[in-house]
Amino acid sequence: MNNAYQVVGQLSTFFDRMMTSADLPAQLALKTFWGLDDDAYQKFLAQAFAGLPKNFSGRLLEVPVGTGVLSLPVYKELDGAEVFCLDYSDKMLEAARERANQLNLHDVKFIQGDVARLPFEDDFFDLVLSVNGFHAFPDKISAWAQTYRVLKPGGIFCGCMYVKGENSRTDIFVEQFCDRQGFFYPPHETLASLKNFLNDIYSRAEVTNVESFAGFVCIK
Ligand SMILES: C[S@@+](CC[C@H](N)C(=O)[O-])C[C@H]1O[C@@H](n2cnc3c(N)ncnc32)[C@H](O)[C@@H]1O
Repeated sequence: MNNAYQVVGQLSTFFDRMMTSADLPAQLALKTFWGLDDDAYQKFLAQAFAGLPKNFSGRLLEVPVGTGVLSLPVYKELDGAEVFCLDYSDKMLEAARERANQLNLHDVKFIQGDVARLPFEDDFFDLVLSVNGFHAFPDKISAWAQTYRVLKPGGIFCGCMYVKGENSRTDIFVEQFCDRQGFFYPPHETLASLKNFLNDIYSRAEVTNVESFAGFVCIK
C-alpha cells in the first residue's frame, strides 16, 4: 500500500481546512474540484451522517477515521455510544487522537488497521460508518465484505464516497490527481452501480448524491 495518507497526516491541518470548508482557499477548492458551493457542502455533510441516529447508543465502528475532523465532534453528542475508530495511517490516527483529547473525548478507541482485515468478530457492531473511505481503499471487495461481516443483522451501514459520472470536472481531477497520487484507488463506482451493488448485499439500501459524493444508508 502506498503512503499518500502518511504525508496527508503530516499536512493534516491543510487537509482539515479542506474538509471543513474553513477558509476561502478551501471553499474555492471545494467549488472548483468537487462542485460544492456553501449550500452543497452543507448537504454533503448532512448526507455523510444521515444514517447515524441522533440518540445512537450502541457499538459503532468508523472506518476510516482519518483525522476525525468531521466525525469526532459528532461523537461528542452521542452519550452511551461505544466508538471504535480505525485507520491504516498512524499519522492520520495521531491527529485524530490529538483532536479527541482537545474535545475531551476520552472513551473513543483508536485502532491502526486495514479495512480489508478488520480485527473484530462477526456481528460485533450496531453501526458501521464510512465517510470518504471506499474510494480510497485499494482492496474494495474485501472492504465491502469486512464491513458487512462485522455488522450485526439489522445493523446500519452508512456514510459517503466519491462516485464517477456526476461531475466531469471532478472526474478529471480524481483521475489526474487523486488516483495518480495514491489518495484514491480506481475502479470507482457510478451512482447506479453503487445502488445496485448495495441493494444486492444489504436487505435495504438508500443511496443519494450531492454532486460526486454518494451517501448510503443500508440495513443488514
Ligand atoms: C479521504 S481520507 C477520509 C478520512 C475521514 N473519514 C474524513 O472524511 O476526513 C481516507 C482515509 O482512508 C485511510 N485508508 C486508506 N486505505 C485504508 C485501509 N486499507 N484501511 C484503513 N484505512 C485506510 C487513509 O489512511 C485515510 O485516512
